[in-house]
Amino acid sequence: MALPTNEQVTEALRAVIDPELRRSIVDLGMVRSIDVRESGKVEVVVSLTTPGCPIRSHFQQAVASNVAALDGVTEVGVGFDVLSDEEKGNLQQALGRPGGLPEGALAAVKNVICVASGKGGVGKSTMTANLAAALHADGHSAGALDADVYGYSIPRMLGVDRKPDVNGERKIIPPTAPAGIKVMSIGFFLERNAAVVWRGPMLHKAIQQFLEDVAWDELDYLLLDLPPGTGDVSMTLAQLLPQAKVLVVTTPQPAAQSVARRAAEMAAKVDLEVLGVIENMSGFTTPDGQRFTIFGEGGGQLLADDLDVPLLGKVPLSERLREGADSGVPLVLEEPDAPASQAIRQLARGIVAATPQALPVMQAESPAAPAPSAPLSGTELPVVSA
Ligand SMILES: Nc1ncnc2c1ncn2[C@@H]1O[C@H](COP(=O)(O)OP(=O)(O)O)[C@@H](O)[C@H]1O
Ligand SMILES: [Mg+2]
Repeated sequence: MALPTNEQVTEALRAVIDPELRRSIVDLGMVRSIDVRESGKVEVVVSLTTPGCPIRSHFQQAVASNVAALDGVTEVGVGFDVLSDEEKGNLQQALGRPGGLPEGALAAVKNVICVASGKGGVGKSTMTANLAAALHADGHSAGALDADVYGYSIPRMLGVDRKPDVNGERKIIPPTAPAGIKVMSIGFFLERNAAVVWRGPMLHKAIQQFLEDVAWDELDYLLLDLPPGTGDVSMTLAQLLPQAKVLVVTTPQPAAQSVARRAAEMAAKVDLEVLGVIENMSGFTTPDGQRFTIFGEGGGQLLADDLDVPLLGKVPLSERLREGADSGVPLVLEEPDAPASQAIRQLARGIVAATPQALPVMQAESPAAPAPSAPLSGTELPVVSA
C-alpha cells in the first residue's frame, strides 16, 4: 500500500486543535517534524509552549488517532519538544496578541476540577460549594460552575441570588458569593424553579458559553459541579477542558462503589485524570461520641484502591453541613472547626498539594477595564454565533 505523503499527514494534523489557543496545531506552527518511514510508521514531533504542558496527553491521542486513520500507516510515534522563546514570540504575534494570551475566558484559570458522582444525592454539590469556600479561605481564588443543569443548586448553597451582568465585550460577569467565590449557574437564567428541558446541542452550547463567555479572569481553582452519571455534559466538558482533573464523590456503602466507578470510567474514556475519591456521609457521631455507620463503611477506600488513586478524605454526616447548604452559608466558613468542616478543609489542602500552581500555558493579559454593564433578562443566554 502506498505511503502517505508529508502533505497528507499535515492535512490530517489540521484536525488536531490546541484546546487553549483554539486553533489547529498546523496553523499554530506547532508541528516540528513529520517523518514517514518505509514500514508505514509515521513519526510526528509536536512543539509545546511549556515543557510541563498539561494537555500533552490530549495531543498525543489526537495526533495518533488522526494520523493512524490515513491509508498505509501502520504505526504512529508522537514526540514532543518545546518552542523556543523566539518561536513563542512568533506564535503570539500570529495570534495578534503581542502580550500573549490564548483566547477564551479560561485563559487565566490555573486548575479546573470536576466534581463527579455516579448518582445524585451523594453530596456532590455540597462538596463543590464547601471546597470552593475552603480553597478561598486558604487564600486561593476560586470559582464554582454549576454544570449540573438539571439539578442546579450551587447558587442556593453559596447564597447568591442575582442575575449576572454582561460587560461591554458581551462577556457574562459571574456574581461573587458572600464567601468570595465567583459563581455561574444555569439557574441564573431560569425563572425560579423552572425545569431545564434542554438536551444535546442546546446543552452543549450552554456549557460552552459558561466556559468561554464568562469573565472568570484569574482563578487558582474553578470547580465544576457535574451532573450525576456519564451524560452529554460530561463529554462536552471533557472535550472543551482536556486538562481538567476529576474528583469522584461516593457514599461509604460498598455497593455504591460500582455506581461511583461509572463516573471514573467516564473520566478514563475521555482521558481526564482522576485526582482522588471523596467519601461523603461517612458515619455519624452523636454528641456523646458514639459513631454510627449509617451508610455503611469502607466504600471510599474500596473505590480508591480500585481506581488506584488516593482517598482524599471522609466527610461525616452532619446536620449543620446540610443546614449550611440550605441556608447559603458553607459550614467551612460558619464553623471551621466542626468535624465535617475539618474534613473538607483537609480535602482542600489535599487538592492544593495534588495540583500544580503553575500559570496556564500562556499568561493572560490583565482583564479589560469593566465596561458599563446591563442586566441580563429572561432565560436567554447572550448567544454567540457558532
Ligand atoms: N455530609 C453530609 N451530612 C449531612 N447532609 C449532607 C451531607 N452531604 C450532603 N448532605 C445533604 O444531602 C443532600 C444531597 O446533597 P447534594 O450536595 O445536593 O448532593 P448531589 O449534588 O450529589 O445531588 C443535601 O440536602 C445536602 O445538604
Ligand atoms: Mg447537586
